[in-house]
Amino acid sequence: MRVLVTGGAGYIGTHTCVELLNAGYEIVIVDNFSNSKPEALKRIKEITGKDFKFYSIDLLNREELEKVFLENEIESVIHFAGLKAVGESVQLPLVYYQNNITGTLILCELMQKYGVKKLVFSSSATVYGDVKSTPILENFPLSATNPYGRSKLIIEEIIRDIGVSDSEWSVAQLRYFNPIGAHPSGLIGEDPNGIPNNLMPYISQVAAGKLKELKIFGNDYPTSDGTGVRDYIHVVDLAKGHIKALEKVMLETGVDAYNLGTGRGYTVLEMVKAFEKASGKEIPYSFVERRQGDISTCFADPTKAKMKLDWAAVMGIREMCVDAWRWQSNNRDGYEVLAKVPVHT
Ligand code: NAD
Ligand code: UFG
Repeated sequence: MRVLVTGGAGYIGTHTCVELLNAGYEIVIVDNFSNSKPEALKRIKEITGKDFKFYSIDLLNREELEKVFLENEIESVIHFAGLKAVGESVQLPLVYYQNNITGTLILCELMQKYGVKKLVFSSSATVYGDVKSTPILENFPLSATNPYGRSKLIIEEIIRDIGVSDSEWSVAQLRYFNPIGAHPSGLIGEDPNGIPNNLMPYISQVAAGKLKELKIFGNDYPTSDGTGVRDYIHVVDLAKGHIKALEKVMLETGVDAYNLGTGRGYTVLEMVKAFEKASGKEIPYSFVERRQGDISTCFADPTKAKMKLDWAAVMGIREMCVDAWRWQSNNRDGYEVLAKVPVHT
């Protein structure tokens, strides 16, 4: 089975490509490296010992993307490609809407044209907006608090409309909670540009001595220790969820959404302690004001994914932190491979 993976060079994409290749799928990756590096693709090959086709293409380039459909017998698509920085999306809403929404429209138009109607889409728990209660179920009201979240919400709605118009479409919209960790090989992991926005890459870089201290955004939330609660999920568990979702869309038609989370929330301070234990490093921190737009508590009810996809996360925060630290300590500067200094004889 040939699967087109958009954004396959990115954080979740690389881990999913490893699982797809290990499960015997043939894959074709499309990425424009706007937030990733070619080295990541080499690492996928190193881990799996398998080869695949790659196109360095922007989804917004319809002609180039069409070639991928013409040159390969694509049967299904896993669509990761998108911009994902919440703060940046507030500054650059047009860039986010253009990239995420127009990119998805072009992809779906080509899928329709070439009769490829099986899709797994990367949505986000952000579509639940300012949640009123936890655990979060798929049928909770949806809303957006920033352009990034709105782009995911709009795409989910567009896809539901496509499903209504043509009952042959089969789509799993996967609402990820907080993916962290890395492949246990230490060869692939999260490689953010510049100073990380998200908690775990920030903590990792403090542990590695690249950043001085963690700033914890708020200690007055109504949680056990006052810091925010999130449902952290190991990226390899998340990647495996895509294989299950792909199996589902190959079997049944219709559009459905699934929470991919563990069902358990941890506070920021609990994550700091877990990372200190896993790395043997102290993580200095201080409390600062709440971050604008943050919610207090967010964790999934993952029952639907268990019942309908036969998937559940199995790894705990210890493994998430151990694997994140292995990746960070083996790859201090991420995928940045130092240019070889010529040797003069
Ligand atoms: P990532 O930035 O590491 O990966 C996205 C990949 O898509 C990158 O390699 C980037 O170069 C590529 N890309 C972006 N726009 C493109 C375009 N127009 N054409 C071709 N390639 C393009 O992000 P990730 O963490 O792997 O996330 C993957 C998906 O999951 C995204 O859609 C993201 O919004 C979603 N998601 C991520 C998280 C998270 O916390 N990481 C949470 C919820 C949802
Ligand atoms: N936090 C800090 N200091 C930091 C970074 C984060 O205290 O330097 C705290 C946050 O306030 C929050 C928790 O750590 O309580 C997690 O924050 P992240 O930025 O790691 O994750 P978010 O839950 O805010 O957002 C993530 C993704 C979004 C996605 C959302 C819901 O980054 O794209 O999950 O899926 F929309």
